[in-house]
Amino acid sequence: MPIVFNEDNQSFHLFTPDTSYIMQIIREGYLAHRYWGRRIHHFRDSNQLLHVHRPLSPNPDPSDRSFSLDELPQEYPGFGGSDLRTPAFQIEQGNGAAVSDLRYISHRIMSGKPALAGLPAVYVEEGDEAETLELTLKDEVLDLYIILTYTVLASWNAIARSVRFENRTNESIRLLRAASLNVDFGDADYQLLQLSGAWAKERTMIKRQLVQGNQSVDSRRGASSPHHNPFIALMRKGADESAGDVYGINLVYSGNFLANVEVDPYDTARVSMGINPFNFAWLLEPGESFQTPEAIMIYSSAGLGGMSRKYHRLYRSRLCRGKYRDEVRPVLVNNWEGTYFDFNAEKLEQIAVKGKELGIELFVLDDGWFGKRNDDTSSLGDWFVNREKLPEGLEDLAARVNRQGLQFGLWFEPEMVSVDSELYRAHPDWCIHTEGRSRTTSRGQLILDFSRPEVREAIVSRVSRILRSAPITYVKWDMNRHMTEAGSAGLPPERQRETAHRYILGLYAVLEELTSAFPEVLFESCSSGGGRFDPGMLYYMPQTWASDNSDAISRLKIQYGTSIVYPVSTIGAHVSDVPNHQVGRVAPLETRGHVAFSGAFGYELDLTVFTEAEQQLVKEQVQFYKEIRELMLRGDLYRMLNPFEGNEAAWMIVAEDAAEAYVFYCRVLAEPNPGFRTLYLQGLIAGADYRINGEERVYGGDELMYTGLRVPFHLHGDFRSQIWRIRKAD
Ligand code: DGJ
Repeated sequence: MPIVFNEDNQSFHLFTPDTSYIMQIIREGYLAHRYWGRRIHHFRDSNQLLHVHRPLSPNPDPSDRSFSLDELPQEYPGFGGSDLRTPAFQIEQGNGAAVSDLRYISHRIMSGKPALAGLPAVYVEEGDEAETLELTLKDEVLDLYIILTYTVLASWNAIARSVRFENRTNESIRLLRAASLNVDFGDADYQLLQLSGAWAKERTMIKRQLVQGNQSVDSRRGASSPHHNPFIALMRKGADESAGDVYGINLVYSGNFLANVEVDPYDTARVSMGINPFNFAWLLEPGESFQTPEAIMIYSSAGLGGMSRKYHRLYRSRLCRGKYRDEVRPVLVNNWEGTYFDFNAEKLEQIAVKGKELGIELFVLDDGWFGKRNDDTSSLGDWFVNREKLPEGLEDLAARVNRQGLQFGLWFEPEMVSVDSELYRAHPDWCIHTEGRSRTTSRGQLILDFSRPEVREAIVSRVSRILRSAPITYVKWDMNRHMTEAGSAGLPPERQRETAHRYILGLYAVLEELTSAFPEVLFESCSSGGGRFDPGMLYYMPQTWASDNSDAISRLKIQYGTSIVYPVSTIGAHVSDVPNHQVGRVAPLETRGHVAFSGAFGYELDLTVFTEAEQQLVKEQVQFYKEIRELMLRGDLYRMLNPFEGNEAAWMIVAEDAAEAYVFYCRVLAEPNPGFRTLYLQGLIAGADYRINGEERVYGGDELMYTGLRVPFHLHGDFRSQIWRIRKAD
């Protein structure tokens, strides 16, 4: 029973093998937060709530000046009463009043995990994989019910939380803020870890000490964005990659979000995460309800590495869905950096022919195959084949590719419309826009208004027609701009500030429809590279192109930062040409392969111009990846050297049964007369024997982990890497 209600002290104890999470109903029905962290057996209130009179803390009960919500750790704090800190939610009544006061009403505990209507969420396959607690709170004055949902996924050491608002009054209520979770930490002695960046440098690890006041990461861009990932972790002082307390929170959402930490004057830390309240409002009519996205909480006492492995196991098996959740991914070649818009069927066929020779399994045709698109200024929305480039159509091209024994994949950017397109000329109001304002373009394009059913239907129908027109087994789903003038012609004035969230709900509806209609297709999400690498997208598409920056050395940081939350199996990673198109660097082909192996592997270049020697190496790389790709799909990641902290990077991926491992090391710049480097392997079986790269000699798992594996001294030159394949001896 991972959820226990203790009648004596009115506490709820949620636990997994490693974690406890405790709440308590106190006094007049306030729901207090009591603990989140390492598993404890019983909660008997050793860490008592102290109530003291503080001159500037307001008192809900005038006869008791020692009690104030301003210093009560709470589960879901409201606004306007005696708590003057950041609220988790805020409402507005028709009369303009914005005050709320929540009290416990009832609860129920059930096995399994209910789905979240219209939203991505982790799921269970058997009822006994999870237990769910629904806590119903009600406003003291209004018939506004707030249902806090906690699902304990014990085997994954995770807790999933979300909130539902039910308006049972007979008046409209406007939601101004509706966080998915709030956690009041008892102290603020933590570092805040965020994964931030920009285009071509996504998910940079940034740590900062919490200080009094608000500190936040957010997106107001209409997408989760490359600027900030919807993830934060609080790391206890001294916690690092392999030890110490780490509290991770990740929002299963792809739109505007806010993660906020408020440290109050008494050094408590209030953490909340959810839809960004900035420019958000949601009208809740009588009888209606509003469901927030889900947040996934993972506590680890084994540092960041422990936290990451828990996220990875959960996301690999109970967030990603469909055929490719459990199937190895085909090795692909994508023509984008090889040809950009300048291709014809013959050129593409030649790449496929070469791909076949080298063992590649899937050819992907990127941007430029539709409308009259020869550059990025036109045709998005016109999902009809460009007959000038491909006179015989996609069917012919797919057949040519298939004849070589390769599968055929295709790029789309379905959420967009070019100003220069048939679609825009026919339906100028189908884009996100605000009446009376100019329409700001980005890359010459506007965003289709997916909050409108007729727009969604038109796009689903156009994309489906193409997918049915040829044997297409892979789709790259791109999205290349952020939201401006966020308004919808389909919504009344009082709902305009719902546009950004309704757009995301519409996107999810489209993805649900298309991925269900084409279950055999492998979908890869992309947003100018890794601009929407979030669990919401992974629910529909099991891999995401990690970055438009395909330089292997930049990728050390991008893939390392991404792996803090997201499994290696979800990280699209390709070998590209040199000098690299984004940064101009010339990294050896060997290193480019070694880095891309830790992901969903492929090539992003013109294979036909490779020398014999390069082709031979590619052949070996493809062969090698096929041997280790099962490991990339299911293995556990151990990070050893952090590229954000030095000149080297190292990590390893170990099979769940520890029978096999892939070890990767890279030194960025050559060093004169360097020291010796030893990698202390992890995750192996101490008592088992292992062979390295198939050699005769065996080494104990304990020796490899504790004595370590020596990196060869002769790595000469910049950007050099080394890999090892380790297998348990029979
Ligand atoms: C942005 C993507 O990240 C690239 O890989 C490529 O597909 C281009 N869009 C095409 O326009």
